[in-house]
Amino acid sequence: MQESMKGLKRTHRCAELSTSNIGEEATIMGWVQKNRNKGGLIFVDVRDRSGIIQVVFEEESMNKEIIDKAASLRAEFVIAVKGKVEKRAGAVNENIPTGDIEIVPSELRILSAAQTPPFQIEENSKTKEELRLKYRYLDLRRPDMQRNLIMRSKVATLTRAFLASEGFLEIETPVLVNSSPEGARDYLVPSRIHKGEFYALPQSPQLLKQLLMCSGYDRYFQIAKCFRDEDLRADRQPEFTQIDMELSFVDIEDVMEVNEKLLAYLFKEVLGVEVSLPIKRMTWIEAMNRFGSDKPDLRFGMELVDVTEIAKETEFGVFTGAIKDGGSVRGINAKTKGNLGRKQIDKLVAFAKDFGAKGLAYIAIAEDGSVKSSFSKFLTEDQQTALINALKGEAGDLLLFAADKNKVVWDVLGNLRLELARQMDLMDKNTYNFVWITEFPLLEFSEEQNRFVAMHHPFTMPMDEDLDKLDSDPGSVRAKAYDIVLNGNEIGGGSIRIFQNDIQEKMFEVLGFTKERAHEQFGFLLEAFKYGVPPHAGLAYGLDRLVMLMAKEDSIRDVIAFPKVKDASDLMLEAPSRVDAEQLDELGLEVEKTEE
Ligand code: AMO
Ligand code: AMP
Repeated sequence: MQESMKGLKRTHRCAELSTSNIGEEATIMGWVQKNRNKGGLIFVDVRDRSGIIQVVFEEESMNKEIIDKAASLRAEFVIAVKGKVEKRAGAVNENIPTGDIEIVPSELRILSAAQTPPFQIEENSKTKEELRLKYRYLDLRRPDMQRNLIMRSKVATLTRAFLASEGFLEIETPVLVNSSPEGARDYLVPSRIHKGEFYALPQSPQLLKQLLMCSGYDRYFQIAKCFRDEDLRADRQPEFTQIDMELSFVDIEDVMEVNEKLLAYLFKEVLGVEVSLPIKRMTWIEAMNRFGSDKPDLRFGMELVDVTEIAKETEFGVFTGAIKDGGSVRGINAKTKGNLGRKQIDKLVAFAKDFGAKGLAYIAIAEDGSVKSSFSKFLTEDQQTALINALKGEAGDLLLFAADKNKVVWDVLGNLRLELARQMDLMDKNTYNFVWITEFPLLEFSEEQNRFVAMHHPFTMPMDEDLDKLDSDPGSVRAKAYDIVLNGNEIGGGSIRIFQNDIQEKMFEVLGFTKERAHEQFGFLLEAFKYGVPPHAGLAYGLDRLVMLMAKEDSIRDVIAFPKVKDASDLMLEAPSRVDAEQLDELGLEVEKTEE
């Protein structure tokens, strides 16, 4: 049975009703959450995006038709109810905002019947994610998902309002652009008209927003879809959304100031959380040395300690060898883990090996002060004491050491620090700890490509004091780049841009581009710069990551309406999918080999 809404008009969302409406007529429309028949009384919980309200049908006082209809309701039927709001006759339900009222109906219509869903629509569902994603339209009915998407909408709306008030213009840039291989892998789109040629989906609006600065728009922003064909993780999707901005005639301070105001505004309006300004700053090298990461989680300590000076005096070949190769030895103190058994320590070693460690040396200090170590035979008593003191070791502590190239040591201990913090429950989701990371290296040497690649992108300005090292020692040049980090997540990043043609050409040269290739790929930008270019800078947030943290979720999939899974497929749409031979033909494409 499917009835029409005709003659009825929704007056309230379910949870918009309260005791102040008692005695009033109201019409609600929504989904049946639950239907309980208590002999003589039928209680129906109706749900919409605002919440739930109870409707009570009483056999004695109501006509048989409405009672029969109420009895036939099952979960997820879509109904309309018109009735009177009354104080709840039975016990008050403290768990829902409308727990002290109910609707006594005069009219009930079934707008749509429903099959039994493959999982129950409820908060904190334990349903496997694959099933949730296959039936995403049902999963999105769950109150926690609705809260997340409502929060996301709010963040987007407030961002628009705030940036507009700061003089930013919202300008769209195209989604069909050209491939620029200086980043992640591109998603390509074949051209029908220009057979054999391809558009690429933008990895970010970077170059176009720089051109908008050349065109005088001064302050631009866009909530932009970006596409990157990368390996996926909990905080990465192949298509994701940036709050992207660019500003003219500004320096780092200006960019940071307006963005700190934006963050403070969002956290206050959405969460009621005060962000204390200014947000602290830390150079990249300090972040690496203290936390082994360029996105340090500052909600807890457990900092890395450099013990190279002590280690190089020991007879421990693992330590001295690493130091001789230009590396270092560093340690962290895992408080309260001194009592871990051999098996559990082996697990930590295996974890470290996943991040490239060759091993993990340890000193365990038992509660009685006795010391157990995997490398004590290579140490004098004094050296062992010096290591313990350096890490402020006390009874009950486990001291863990890694020796290798700096990059490996940072990565191993940085990740071990996070793993231990997870185990010790040190990451409080109600604490929001922001930090700007500055002075990133401009370049990174890629062993794979045997050349320097840009750490951020090729348009990032080197620091003035390092400019002269671009030729002699490019690896040591720092960039005018900054990331904004929240609780160990990179939520945004940006930089001051190169706007001088000579520096830009030099940059391309250091990156191993020939003049021809640079012009082939970025000619339009270099050309544009010849016609008057303002100094400019910008930043982009990962909106998904920002909302994930605000919603206290662990995965960005939980704040994206229709996300993709690890292998980049959409389980509901069954995308990607094959296309007809005619479609391929029209595009001048041939599929060489397919897997069933
Ligand atoms: P960047 O590459 O650092 O900078 O990207 C900016 C922010 O976007 C988010 N992000 C992602 N979120 C989800 N899934 C992904 N695959 C993904 N990749 C990045 C991160 C990141 O901080 N054009 C520059 C910005 C600029 O210089 O103005 C850029 O794209 O939160
Ligand atoms: P070995 O002499 O190889 O048995 O190693 C002695 C201890 O040093 C073991 O606990 C190893 O896990 C550890 N170890 C090995 N390589 C490293 C390394 N690169 N950094 C830190 N510890 C290591």
